Amino acid sequence: MTPTCNHLDENVRARTVSILRALTLALDLALRSKQSHWNIKGPGFIALHQMLDDLTGQMHDAADTMAERLVALGGFAEGTAQHIHENACIGSELGHRTGQADVLTALTQGYATFSQSLIGQIDETAQIGDPTSSDVLTEVSRTVDKSLWFLEAHLPSDKLARSVLSEQTALAGQ
Ligand SMILES: [Fe+2]
Repeated sequence: MTPTCNHLDENVRARTVSILRALTLALDLALRSKQSHWNIKGPGFIALHQMLDDLTGQMHDAADTMAERLVALGGFAEGTAQHIHENACIGSELGHRTGQADVLTALTQGYATFSQSLIGQIDETAQIGDPTSSDVLTEVSRTVDKSLWFLEAHLPSDKLARSVLSEQTALAGQ
């Protein structure tokens, strides 16, 4: 940890830095959204192509906000492709999917997983006495949940939405 005049105790800062390393998930989702922006195919192409570029930018902004808070608290923000490969475990596999429904389903699972993980982190940072980091994570949570809404709004049927939820439940139980 880098020395700082920040008022928080070092053990609180160290725990928050550990939590904010979840920025790796935001970077992973940004990359997945960008790959989908390039490769998605289907009748809603142009709207999805543009929406996925917006989601990419929002996830980059979320990662930037988390990284800068992490460094302000004395940590080191990692963002290389190698680090993302070794540390991001978002659950769903995007692979070489190109079909509209398949891509949106995979992305929905990824955003839902990140959203779920943020809730506990918002609570924990508040409880250990770092409301500022809790606020940062709340802001990220708002962005992720809005992105999740945009993705789900394009899912073609209730049946597909239910399959996403059942896969998410299975992942949570692993
Ligand atoms: Fe582009």
